Amino acid sequence: MNTQANWAEKAWRQVVEKIEKTSIDIGASFPNGSVNGRYNRSPAHDWVAGFWPGLLWLVYQETQNERLKDLAVQCEQQISRTLWEFDALHHDVGFMFGLSSINQYKLLQDEEAKRHGLMAASLLAGRFNPAGGFIRAWPNWGGEDHSGWAIIDCMMNLPLLYWASKEIDDPRYRLIAEIHADTVLREFLRADGSVHHIVSFDPETGERRGALAGQGYAADSAWARGAAWALYGFALSHTYTGKEKYLVAAKQVARFFLDHLPADSVPYWDFRLPADAEEMPRDSSAAAIAASGLLDLASAVSEEEGSAYRQAAELILRSLHENYGAWDEDEQGLLLHATGYFAADIAVDAPLIYGDYYFAEALLKLKNNGLRPW
Ligand code: GLY
Repeated sequence: MNTQANWAEKAWRQVVEKIEKTSIDIGASFPNGSVNGRYNRSPAHDWVAGFWPGLLWLVYQETQNERLKDLAVQCEQQISRTLWEFDALHHDVGFMFGLSSINQYKLLQDEEAKRHGLMAASLLAGRFNPAGGFIRAWPNWGGEDHSGWAIIDCMMNLPLLYWASKEIDDPRYRLIAEIHADTVLREFLRADGSVHHIVSFDPETGERRGALAGQGYAADSAWARGAAWALYGFALSHTYTGKEKYLVAAKQVARFFLDHLPADSVPYWDFRLPADAEEMPRDSSAAAIAASGLLDLASAVSEEEGSAYRQAAELILRSLHENYGAWDEDEQGLLLHATGYFAADIAVDAPLIYGDYYFAEALLKLKNNGLRPW
């Protein structure tokens, strides 16, 4: 057995062991960020709700642990009920339903879960603004007008639309996803491969109003997790459509991401922090997301190019495993040192459930030679 296989197998076994243990406490709920070793919980309509059932499915499909399957099914029941909490929902139904309902449909051939996925896709398609060619991200939370806001994270929600189009043999959802992805190519991606977090448009005319800092340091900075969403999201749009322009964009973002990593391959929470910033926490979740995206990118290009992306992903994952993994600690999270939302002081330098999910997902891809789990 080669060294890579040894390392990844061992890390995967640690993930399985830990999830089997923490699932006893976490149960069918929705962990978000960890404080003092314990995950706090979010409601089922929160954008993070899919990551715990997603993790449970990753482990279940390798171990056939029925207890984990039952918990994932119970999570799906709660998430699917949020379809009737329409005004609390948002564009992240892609993460929520993709990782719960669609996984459940694919793994258990559950037709009811498939219908939930299709309803969520219709809801996401309903957020499309034809004037600006973008999917609106959020409702007007906190009284702020978000009617013209699109955000980079939405690239990760587009697979819900690609899936729905294929499932019901109707191009409408895919066409909406492609128009949104083209808007992101044009309005979010900078020449150096970095991206904006939020771009605001006039919701009536579609005219671009400007970029906003969002969860990044500034409007012209480079939020690390935003770059990771863009890298992985463009790679996914290429996988689902076969269109070269999305592959070119994914490579551009990957170059920026990899060229700006510090020595241990895990980024600070923003790639453009001022040199005298007092606090510079890392974002291990951005590293995990990027690693998983790089492994998809590796499968989409020539053998030679692919092996460079695979090596970069492995370097990141090994560093996460060795330097950021909470393997022997009294801590429910898998990865330490992620940053949720620095400016709002939410989950700074803490484990985050999406960091855990993408670490496990990427590890499985690495261990299984780039093959997606299902
Ligand atoms: N989608 C929100 C985040 O990445 O924090």
